[in-house]
Amino acid sequence: MHGKRNPTTQCVGIEAPLGHRRLTGLNGLWFSGQTWGWLVVATLGLVSAAWGQVSPQQMEEGKKVYETTCMVCHQPTGMGIPGVYPPLAGGDFVAGGNRRAISIVLNGLQGAVTVKGVPYNGVMQAWKAVLTDDKIAAVLTYERNSFGNKASPVTPEQVKKVRDELANRTTPFTPAEIEQIPNEDVKP
Ligand code: HEC
Repeated sequence: MHGKRNPTTQCVGIEAPLGHRRLTGLNGLWFSGQTWGWLVVATLGLVSAAWGQVSPQQMEEGKKVYETTCMVCHQPTGMGIPGVYPPLAGGDFVAGGNRRAISIVLNGLQGAVTVKGVPYNGVMQAWKAVLTDDKIAAVLTYERNSFGNKASPVTPEQVKKVRDELANRTTPFTPAEIEQIPNEDVKP
């Protein structure tokens, strides 16, 4: 009995530190595994943006920005109020090349414009001092892919590029000026 018990005790004594070390090793693996997981998610997000696919996360973020910042005028349906607030559904400035939409949201829009056959002559404020590049990218991606619209997503990098180009401009755009902006996506 004695002879049998001793080796068992010794065995446990040796196994415990080993087991502990092994567990620590596994923990380390698990953490780096999780980090890699996030990196993969982030990379897939960037790649899908580059491929022109719309990420669900950006749509969700954009919906939040829309509901808190834009919906009061452009309405839950994106249809606006005829003659007062233009619709975002089916509007050329919203769903064409994203350079025009980004410019409008950064600096605002003022003056006579006809959207889907209805004339408007109002003022929309600039949002550049209110919303970050991330938020503008998200809300525009949302608008360009909601209300029946289907257009390329907008990345924060594209917004930043236009923001830098417009750094010295303080006045809103007129619709005529927007027509002069190439109807194309901002190049990466
Ligand atoms: C206080 C009301 C108001 C709010 C809030 C508002 N807009 Fe506007 N928006 C307008 C008006 C008015 C116009 C048209 C200006 C004109 O007549 O020249 C406009 C025009 C636009 C246009 C061009 C529309 C087109 O079809 O030609 C876009 C794009 C747009 N808004 C996006 C946004 C986004 C994005 C937000 C939220 C960040 C927002 N708006 C918040 C009032 C508003």
